[in-house]
Amino acid sequence: CPNKQLKQPIKVTVTGAAGNIGYAFVFFAGQGRLFGQDQPIDLTLLELPNSKRPMMGTVMELDDCAYPLLANIRTTTSIDEAFVGCQVAVLVGAKPRGPGMERKDLLSENGKIFKAQGEAIDRYADRDCKVLVVGNPANTNCLIVQRYAPSIPKQNFTAMTRLDQNRADSILASKIGVHSRQIRNLIIWGNHSATQVPDASQGIIMNYPQPGMVTAARGAVSNDKWLTTEFVETVAKRGAAIIQMREKSSAASAASAACDHIHDWFIGTQSGQIVSMAVISDGSYGVPEGLCFSYPVTCQNGKWQIVQGLQWDELTKKRIEVTTKELIEERDLALQSLAANTK
Ligand code: NAD
Ligand code: LMR
Repeated sequence: CPNKQLKQPIKVTVTGAAGNIGYAFVFFAGQGRLFGQDQPIDLTLLELPNSKRPMMGTVMELDDCAYPLLANIRTTTSIDEAFVGCQVAVLVGAKPRGPGMERKDLLSENGKIFKAQGEAIDRYADRDCKVLVVGNPANTNCLIVQRYAPSIPKQNFTAMTRLDQNRADSILASKIGVHSRQIRNLIIWGNHSATQVPDASQGIIMNYPQPGMVTAARGAVSNDKWLTTEFVETVAKRGAAIIQMREKSSAASAASAACDHIHDWFIGTQSGQIVSMAVISDGSYGVPEGLCFSYPVTCQNGKWQIVQGLQWDELTKKRIEVTTKELIEERDLALQSLAANTK
């Protein structure tokens, strides 16, 4: 409709915009996957100087798409310029892991990047800037950004476990023989790492076995043990399995999950729907305050809220202890190495 009034553009900064994930993400963003079809965006792309040319090439392609919702595109290799007035920061730019590495092996290399970005966000971004960290180790990088951006509300810092949630949905869907859109409320607790805890205890299958019916995930899988063993391991090791096959880490699926994460955070979850986001812990479920921990959340009016009062069985409880311990170790290592670098 030619008379339809578009809203003011939301200013989105994407780091690592010429990398594998960044390249996919900016096109999804241009198509309106972040905030819906009536919300234009201004994109700022940040890259390292040696990736300036591919970043410019990406902009040429974005121009050629003539996306109606893409109001402006800016590129920069200056961290100081990248976050001026930024309302949504998507922090992708970082080194990915290769075969045989764990995500925490990237800790010291990538920690420095996220400290500098936290400081820049603190100084230049919109006071209500919302941050999604994708670069690994995502939870601990998010904790670092948050620590170095103390003037922005803590609730505005999140890391991505939506890819794990989407993987869980798809793995369970193919086991039962339904579409993944029918799966709801699978939860990822803890770290975006091999210790993450995919939890199907709240899971439901819509329209299963018949239209109009809702069945608990446990009831839909004939072998209940599968849900607490093979399912958990397959989801947790999916990132490594993709690296084995592609010889590169997941890219389009990560970019797509980043859109899902931001979309649900801003637009809200549906009634009764739970999604997983790693957020700065307020101590819920006994997790130490300040860790960036993936929780089940619901979202409304641009804010997330942790779903409280869920019960864990013994196995889940043990797994959650392991993922929490890993996050504490990552935090301590990251903060030590950042402190050593500033001496
Ligand atoms: P990539 O190497 O293809 O791209 C990274 C890009 O970031 C490069 O273009 C590089 O020049 C740029 N970059 C590096 N440091 C930068 C900095 N300081 N400022 C701006 N740009 C910078 O990597 P990728 O495959 O796009 O993966 C990016 C990150 O995302 C990796 O850490 C990867 O492990 C992680 N990842 C996370 C998830 C998740 O679910 N959280 C999923 C997949 C990948
Ligand atoms: C993933 O889960 O695919 C990413 O975190 C990349 C990786 O290192 O596994």
